[in-house]
Amino acid sequence: MNTIDHAQALAYMDQARQVASRAYCPYSNFSVGCVLVDAQGRTFEGCNVENASYSVTLCAERTAGSQAIAQGSRDWKSIYIVSPTRVSPCGTCRQFLFELAPDLQVYLGDLQADSYIGPTPIRELLPMAMELQQTILPHRKS
Ligand code: THU
Repeated sequence: MNTIDHAQALAYMDQARQVASRAYCPYSNFSVGCVLVDAQGRTFEGCNVENASYSVTLCAERTAGSQAIAQGSRDWKSIYIVSPTRVSPCGTCRQFLFELAPDLQVYLGDLQADSYIGPTPIRELLPMAMELQQTILPHRKS
């Protein structure tokens, strides 16, 4: 990675930390923030949004992706995710991101250190991913 890309990645990580500070996570107290970047350089922010009915919780990655979709962005290039322990996206979020961006590059950071790991292609995080194409069945003869 060249110096400009590295500096840009650090800047997106900082932006993601700001977003994490707005997470709604009174149950886990585990704040996650992310910045999703599309091919035009547009950015979409996301944080986790928890709920008293735990399974209703939305992860940061899906809030960012949903905002992007709603604003007409589907050509996603990279995502910068920060959390207290630098976790990688959960299985549900991997599937969600892969659907629209099978070549997405994932960068992971934490809430303190000015460093990150990545880029890691989402494909590597979701081997044998389920794809739309696989759900289209041949017409059955009656
Ligand atoms: N969480 C995310 O927002 N993204 C991830 O990649 C991992 C987990 C959230 C869900 C929940 O609010 C909290 O972190 C603890 O699991």
